[in-house]
Amino acid sequence: MQENLFTDLFINSKWVKTNKQYVVTNPATGQQIASVSHAGSDEIEAAIQSATVAFKVWKNSSAKTRCEKLQKWCQLIIAHKEQLAALITMECGKPLKEAANEALYAASFVEWAAEQARRIDGVIIDSHMPNTEINVAYEPVGVVAAITPWNFPVAMVTRKIAPAIAAGCSIVLKPSELTPLSALYLAHLALLAEFPEGLINIIGGDSAEIGAKFTHDERIRKITFTGSTRVGKILLADSASTLKRVSLELGGNAPFIIFEDADMDEALAGLMQCKFRNAGQTCVCANRILVQQSIYDEFAARFKNMVAKLNVGNGFDENTNIGPLINLSGKQKAQAHIKDAVNKGATLYFGGEDLGGNFLQPTILTHVTDDALLCREETFGPVAPIFSFIDEDEAVYKANNTKFGLAAYFFTSDYKRIHRLKRSLEVGMIGVNSGVLSAENVPFGGVKESGLGREGGKPGIYEFVEAKYTMNKF
Ligand code: SIN
Repeated sequence: MQENLFTDLFINSKWVKTNKQYVVTNPATGQQIASVSHAGSDEIEAAIQSATVAFKVWKNSSAKTRCEKLQKWCQLIIAHKEQLAALITMECGKPLKEAANEALYAASFVEWAAEQARRIDGVIIDSHMPNTEINVAYEPVGVVAAITPWNFPVAMVTRKIAPAIAAGCSIVLKPSELTPLSALYLAHLALLAEFPEGLINIIGGDSAEIGAKFTHDERIRKITFTGSTRVGKILLADSASTLKRVSLELGGNAPFIIFEDADMDEALAGLMQCKFRNAGQTCVCANRILVQQSIYDEFAARFKNMVAKLNVGNGFDENTNIGPLINLSGKQKAQAHIKDAVNKGATLYFGGEDLGGNFLQPTILTHVTDDALLCREETFGPVAPIFSFIDEDEAVYKANNTKFGLAAYFFTSDYKRIHRLKRSLEVGMIGVNSGVLSAENVPFGGVKESGLGREGGKPGIYEFVEAKYTMNKF
């Protein structure tokens, strides 16, 4: 594995070692994986300057060139999916098979962006005046600062970087300090793909220092961030000083609603996929399971039988379905949510055992009350709280009763209800009889305090361009 470890900063297409280092730890074993270079103010400045110089060239590159570079990078990501998967499992903890799927998911964003690079077409508008023509061109927004999370250390990087490159932007990336190795490996693959100098720069270090520099620096024209709502608000407020474009993919508290007319097998399968992906550490995973009262007991019992079969362990063990949580504070937060719900009257229906280290047994809570902390906060762990509701109005009220608005899921066979709920749920994404939403060709993002803007799909590219209108008189 050692030959796959890149531990320096990546600035102007060169590896830069610093004296100050930070440690990356395997969440399954607690063992140190690597010491990684820590960017100080000089390195942060060098990375931004490198992207600024690269932008001047890249913005004038042809769409064909941008497409071809991305295609090459995509092929290399697919060819190295096993190396990437091993890195993901080692630093993030998810099971190896899931990690390999993440590598392919990451490649799909690059492939999609390569295809879109050649389709960012301008338009000609019929003019309101004689002897004039109006045209609109889409130009790259400029240098982009991207801040990515630890829960998808490869896919969230490509979801941001690839459309930015397709649009003609250059990038300074700050991956999570918990999982920088996967991102640095992507930089290695970008070198093999012969990306131009300075197109991608990767730095890690003090999050607050780097975030403040990104938001206040006039050379950076766009910030794209995935992470907590708390940090997203800071970045948005700080970006006001230089009036940057900002895209934020923030927290969620997804309701997962099962009506009595649903196909229960389908709903259970969807819930298992949605809830336990990456040990429940995704922003779109079910955080509140709402089950109609008439089927509540049967649903809970069948769900318990399925959850009881999940194996918790090291992601490198092929029997593992659920890896560790990312760190102790992640586990403690999930445990605090369990304790709080039980104190307020919920039943600990299954699991809840502390399995040592960062491991937590998947947990089902039943008869959870609406004042439980997990109704207001995202749990980010393998905890499945089941609420009950009497009718559709109550289900919709409960589903929307949160400041978040990222994803929602519902299962029903009533087609009229499907249309009603598609309108009344206050979220950016809805799974109807589906527990899976994510893909490269869809606009991923939320409303309310879940964020601003969209990633993926056609809207994902338009986050990185500005419309420039020209009035031509002849
Ligand atoms: C996330 O949890 O931030 C992203 C999940 C996904 O892309 O499916």
